[in-house]
Amino acid sequence: MQNKIIVTGGAGFIGSNFILQWFANESAAIVNLDLLTYAGNPENLVTVSENSRYQFVHGDIGNRELARGLLTEHQPRAVVHFAAESHVDRSIHGPDDFVRTNVNGTLGLLEAARSYWSNLPPTDQQAFRFLHVSTDEVYGSLGLDDPPFHENTAYAPNSPYSASKAASDHLVRAYHHTYGLPTLTTNCSNNYGPRQFPEKLIPLMILNARAGKPLPVYGDGQNVRDWIFVDDHCDAVRTVLARGGVGETYNVGGRSEQKNMDVVETVCAVLDELRPDDPVVPHRSLIRFVQDRPGHDRRYAIDSRKIERELGWHPTETFASGLRKTIEWYLEHDQWTRNIATGAYREWVAKQYSL
Ligand code: NAD
Ligand code: TYD
Repeated sequence: MQNKIIVTGGAGFIGSNFILQWFANESAAIVNLDLLTYAGNPENLVTVSENSRYQFVHGDIGNRELARGLLTEHQPRAVVHFAAESHVDRSIHGPDDFVRTNVNGTLGLLEAARSYWSNLPPTDQQAFRFLHVSTDEVYGSLGLDDPPFHENTAYAPNSPYSASKAASDHLVRAYHHTYGLPTLTTNCSNNYGPRQFPEKLIPLMILNARAGKPLPVYGDGQNVRDWIFVDDHCDAVRTVLARGGVGETYNVGGRSEQKNMDVVETVCAVLDELRPDDPVVPHRSLIRFVQDRPGHDRRYAIDSRKIERELGWHPTETFASGLRKTIEWYLEHDQWTRNIATGAYREWVAKQYSL
């Protein structure tokens, strides 16, 4: 095997942050397989595009020939699988793409990995890893007083997105159990940070607030998410890849439960301070309660004691410090935002918010 890994979905939000962090900390080369859907943005990786350790391949994880060919050609020591359709609201409007990529695509990638791995010499077989990046949403919704999700919490996905991720987790588990493929799975809570596509709560609020547009809060705004800064998640993925137990799953969370309304209020308060001359100030006057998301999960919370205890990983950012970094990044990267404001993005916003 080569000192190389294949990353899928590396042009997206978490994948691109992962690749940037990887090159700052690790020696292995990366082949990034990404279909460049609306969520994939090569601009996220301009700073590594000339790096001799980096190679981009445009393609679908569900294309088994392509995946098998890449594995045979590059002889990687690991696959780190981020590629997915990732937005709950889009999955409500159109679940098919979610099953196609998250379920069938993951199956294709697993098949390609199994074929590659089963032909490796025994020592390489032992060293190889297939790391599947998943979500806490597979566990369903918590009541306000329920204990947080742990690795043995029963799966109870509620949205087409989480159902498709749950199916992919089960396939990964089955490939370990049935074929012995050395898999690892991480189930992480809501990420935020630089380079997140502005269909998700935090970047959407930052960009709308700056532009003087309404800040749409679903339902009563009391839904709770457990927020983690993206670099902490990427660090957890690297930790699990390096030291995780084969066939194990690890829950990853930021110890930062927040109600949506509090998140939006905090974004507004930071922007009041940093951008007092925006068109509408105070920014919070833009908050509007809008119709709730169908089947909206009330609360997610993660018990990440396993990865903390067994692998020594801990989140380093508080919600306050991570959110400020995130807002500052968006303020400093106007052009990034303008470039992703494509026709497809505008159509989505119009459809979702009846604008
Ligand atoms: P994203 O939507 O920002 O990026 C997804 C990337 O996958 C894009 O670059 C896209 O082009 C690529 N892609 C989509 N379909 C593909 C296909 N068929 N073949 C190849 N590439 C394809 O997503 P993200 O927020 O970066 O999430 C990455 C992973 O982390 C996903 O598996 C998601 O389920 C998981 N996750 C996300 C969060 C979160 O809060 N964003 C939390 C926990 C877990
Ligand atoms: P989101 O960022 O879509 O992540 P997820 O659904 O995977 O948790 O949404 C985070 C929370 O914010 C979720 O409870 C839905 C809510 N939300 C709004 O209130 N308004 C919005 O415009 C969006 C996009 C999300």
